[in-house]
Amino acid sequence: MEDVSLEGLAHRFGTPLYVYSEAAILSQIRRFEAAFHGLPHLFCYALKANPSGRLCRLISSRGLGADIVSGGEMERALRSGFPASRMIFSGVGKTESELDWAVRRRLLFINVESEEELRRLEGVAKRLKKTADISVRVNPDIDPRTHRHITTGLAVNKFGVPPAAARDLFRRAAKQKHLRPVAIQCHLGSQIREVKPYLSALRQLLSLARSLAAEGIPLRWLDIGGGMGVAEGEKGELNPESLAAAIAPEMGDYPLRLILEPGRALVAGSGALLMKVLYRKASAGGGPLRGTPGTRLRRGRDGRRFVIVDAGMNDFARPSLYDAHHPIVPAVLPRGGPKFRADVVGPICESGDFVAKDRLLPWPAPGDVWAVLMAGAYGFSMSSQYNSRPRAAEVLVSGHEAALIRRRETLKDLFALER
Ligand SMILES: Cc1ncc(COP(=O)(O)O)c(C=O)c1O
Repeated sequence: MEDVSLEGLAHRFGTPLYVYSEAAILSQIRRFEAAFHGLPHLFCYALKANPSGRLCRLISSRGLGADIVSGGEMERALRSGFPASRMIFSGVGKTESELDWAVRRRLLFINVESEEELRRLEGVAKRLKKTADISVRVNPDIDPRTHRHITTGLAVNKFGVPPAAARDLFRRAAKQKHLRPVAIQCHLGSQIREVKPYLSALRQLLSLARSLAAEGIPLRWLDIGGGMGVAEGEKGELNPESLAAAIAPEMGDYPLRLILEPGRALVAGSGALLMKVLYRKASAGGGPLRGTPGTRLRRGRDGRRFVIVDAGMNDFARPSLYDAHHPIVPAVLPRGGPKFRADVVGPICESGDFVAKDRLLPWPAPGDVWAVLMAGAYGFSMSSQYNSRPRAAEVLVSGHEAALIRRRETLKDLFALER
């Protein structure tokens, strides 16, 4: 990674270990900025993808805003230099105290996701004698054709309100002294690889914004959310250049600034999860050195070969949760040698604990370091202590330097909060 040996990092900091490349994050930000250069816009980084303070500081220092979904993320965003004036607050279940913090801090806007939330926000703003800038999150009922657990803009999803209800919420807010509608928003889901769903959503939002303006409710921002897909297995990324090229003619010279909320697209490719091979084994019929290297094992008939690594679903949940396909490479590339098909599994007591299934890989020796690639988003941020496993450490690489940005949790940390 950059000028640093991954195997060296594994030995120095231990495994499992998340490592991120500063250059990769900066280059992805530059790429997005260049693609959208011709359109007035603001990128609000979705902190949930990777809320590490060091990464957030890097991203805020480049002038991006933040998309937050909890009071905790608000605190993290503020501490890492995102100004409240560039922060937007989404989520269906904001509590009264979270709304209170958001109104006091004067965020760019609060994304309202239901009529009851609007009423509560009204009450909070009135009590504080302040005006809250709001957006309404529209559920456009558009299929982004991604994994069913990561669609958010379908009518069956809990997010946002249908367009007709959104219009009513805007009208209601416009009449309130303490609320000011400034934006319209939607977010279709994650790992979206086609421009088409974005365009359909954009057209719906634009048409609603235009008719609201005609009624005397002019908005300033049009926010089409995040979800820009990155490469996964055979599937390619959503190209920001194509997205920008498709959006530009739709926006025309309409006086609305565009917001995008990329999370994964900015950080996924910067990160690798380093793990160590502990053991190899085989179920009946799947003998590691039997059979022809590279042949696909037939489920239920040929048994399985297993490579057991020291990273489990508590460290990296995406394969188990979403069947995500992440490339796995040895930290030191072998010179030739046969490849075998195997399942790469972790130490957690669940059969759903795997990093990869039926993957063609060089047959490793115990102690070898492997890297799971594209692990910079929703990797550490979704990790847990399940099975009482202390969470991994995180390292940021920049040129020849590698800095520990979060220490490995210890056994003591497991008990720190118990009373
Ligand atoms: C409201 C909102 N914005 C942005 C994102 C970021 O999505 P992604 O990381 O896929 O870009 C999410 C992810 O769930 C979200 O819920």
